[in-house]
Amino acid sequence: MDKMVVVGGQKLNGQVNTGGAKNAALPILFSTLLAEGEHVFRNVPRLKDIDSTSELLQALGCETRWDGDLFRVLVKPAPSLEAHYDIVRKMRASILCLGPLLTKYGEAVVSMPGGCAIGTRPIDLHLEGMKALGAEIVLEEGYVKAHAKKLKGNTILFEVCTVGGTENLMMAAALADGITVLENAAKEPEIVDLAEYLNKMGAKISGAGTSVITIEGVNKLKPAEHAIMADRIEAGTLLIAGAITGGEVTVNRIKPQLIESLISKMKEAGFKIAVSNDSVMVHPNTSWTGIDITTAPFPLFPTDLQAQYMALMAVSQGASVITETVFENRFMHVQELIRLGADITPKTRVAVVRGHSGRLKGAPVMATDLRASASLVLAGLVADGETTVSRIYHLDRGYERLEEKLSSLGARIKRM
Ligand code: UD1
Repeated sequence: MDKMVVVGGQKLNGQVNTGGAKNAALPILFSTLLAEGEHVFRNVPRLKDIDSTSELLQALGCETRWDGDLFRVLVKPAPSLEAHYDIVRKMRASILCLGPLLTKYGEAVVSMPGGCAIGTRPIDLHLEGMKALGAEIVLEEGYVKAHAKKLKGNTILFEVCTVGGTENLMMAAALADGITVLENAAKEPEIVDLAEYLNKMGAKISGAGTSVITIEGVNKLKPAEHAIMADRIEAGTLLIAGAITGGEVTVNRIKPQLIESLISKMKEAGFKIAVSNDSVMVHPNTSWTGIDITTAPFPLFPTDLQAQYMALMAVSQGASVITETVFENRFMHVQELIRLGADITPKTRVAVVRGHSGRLKGAPVMATDLRASASLVLAGLVADGETTVSRIYHLDRGYERLEEKLSSLGARIKRM
């Protein structure tokens, strides 16, 4: 099993490009199930989660292939309508095939994703939403079995802001009869990217990016071409990598407003940050203060950058309080950061980080989930000596060649 070995103490310097967004690519790739024919994508990141999506699409009867930098999905008539546990368990986002299959073919059988490291992550809101559109749903033998002759538009008020739920319902409503209104919809930029692709296919969706999304169902969609948006979480991680080492790093191909919540917290902490249309640069800095964050849906501080920000706070001067409101069990990285010498007291959803400018010390640590593994790599960049991060497969689910990108900035990091 691969490990990442980081030797700390190098200041990172230079420019680095952001890749395509995993969280935009996954729903968009599943949305291809809505239209037979060939869909063509640019800027799809080469990640484990994309391989898992590809595997599932193939199991459903589609052909997928890389063609140089393009990713092609050929959706054939009469696909299989069953997403098996073997594939779904690898990636929770597989539930996103439910909406497209159900609305297009009137039926879908999708394995329930099960638990995951960062909490129970139920799918009840996806299912309630499908029922509101007229689906009959039974849960049997670990599978969601959904059926509907034709979905019918309705108004759906989400009790909790859910990114995946909003995406699944948007896809289902695209081919439903009549108008669907999603209220308290998630506003994440990846939802806007999905809506853009659905509209390119012929859907009639307005309001994506606001809390009310209106979808006027159409009879048929056709394949289209699309470039996946940039990955704001990768961009934020790379910016923190520059900051934590006291280096000067420019992250290119990212619209600064996508990571405004991070930029403003880093500025409060004392970093000088320059932005242009599509880049963000952090200036060298040797000391910064502790600044509190609370994770929340977009445009507030993303839960997917909480672990990385905590590593930055662990070497700040002063204390900070990190509050996680999105997932109930997302402090698994804390114990590992403590192994590196961080001073952190975790409670259920709040962690108090007593930053110290004394260096962290390298140690063997274990990645527990995708973003946690990134935070350990970041901490390793400033820890004295060698940090070995094991279970790096978590990192490969969501970061494309992170070690190469960090090496190009001067980090001493290699995969073993
Ligand atoms: C997506 C992102 C993930 C990110 C998260 C929050 C993808 C592939 N993943 O995950 O990286 O961390 O958004 O920004 O885009 N909930 C329910 N019932 C449901 C659905 C969700 O209670 O049916 C709860 C969840 O347990 C969680 C909250 O809603 O507490 C938000 O989850 P959600 O936005 O759905 O996250 P995902 O779409 O799974």
